[in-house]
Amino acid sequence: MRRVNSAKPGLLSCGIAALLLAASGVTWGADASAPAASAPNPAAAAMAMAAKVQQEQAADKKKQDETERLRGFGADWESWSADNSVADTASLQRGLRDFVGYCRGCHALKYVRYSRMAADLQITLEQLQKFLLPAGGKPSDYVATPMPSADALTWFGKVPPDLSLMARERGPDYLYRLFTTYYVDPSRTTGANNLQLPGIAMPPVLSTLEGPKAAVFHTENGQQVFDHFVQLAPGSMSREEYQATVRDLVNFLDYAGEPTQVLRRSLGVKVVLFLLAFTALTYLLKREYWKNIH
Ligand code: HEC
Repeated sequence: MRRVNSAKPGLLSCGIAALLLAASGVTWGADASAPAASAPNPAAAAMAMAAKVQQEQAADKKKQDETERLRGFGADWESWSADNSVADTASLQRGLRDFVGYCRGCHALKYVRYSRMAADLQITLEQLQKFLLPAGGKPSDYVATPMPSADALTWFGKVPPDLSLMARERGPDYLYRLFTTYYVDPSRTTGANNLQLPGIAMPPVLSTLEGPKAAVFHTENGQQVFDHFVQLAPGSMSREEYQATVRDLVNFLDYAGEPTQVLRRSLGVKVVLFLLAFTALTYLLKREYWKNIH
């Protein structure tokens, strides 16, 4: 007991010394014109250092993006994966928001009710009413699309499929690649084509976020083979932000394909904890019962 106590002040002074050392290090390292030299306390100096590191990282990232833009990217697209997790509720919420914003205009989720999603994704009824339900919709409604099938057929030559079970049918990685391998193709009516689904009838609905990219092909044994993408113009998002947005959307579709998996996972943990507690209790009881028997 006493030993632990006496160790405390030692640790504390060690920590303070380390902080002071770090702070003075910043002052030595900073150039004379930098305001860091006038930083009055270690916390401000540490923050200034963190900001500098962040700035340098951002500059590195920009340089990397630029070389990638010139060299092209995507030769490895077939190995791109969604890396999504239905346990990530914040990601599911963002995915739902973007589904409502970018997909529901054409696609329904006919097996999923709004109320069920709200409960699973920890969304309040008020948020549901305000941001997610269509005008006049009820929480108990299934997710429908206002797009009439006949019109879709005329416009796209195909009816947009229901997306309830799409993630189970195609898998999350397929969906992730579907939205990351669009490229400009003036020969198509939509102006776009896709590596994952060549000749796709769905327009590139996320292209303002991603920015347009061209696909460069080379000829191999008389056949056109994809080589790499070239970013033609930046989108409203960086590549990383765009990938994260697609990941969230795919995650949401993965959840929609099997809403019980969210509940099942959290229930699983509770069941295991219960069983552990129960085992301990049983063991104590057994000890009590057998105490006097030898
Ligand atoms: C403007 C209408 C429209 C919008 C908006 C739209 N889609 Fe589509 N989508 C279609 C059409 C049409 C097809 C059929 C494409 C085909 O089979 O070539 C389709 C097909 C699909 C497919 C099936 C692809 C396959 O392998 O068969 C998926 C998955 C999909 N859409 C997801 C989405 C998601 C996610 C969004 C929102 C980000 C979205 N769609 C927004 C029209 C749309």
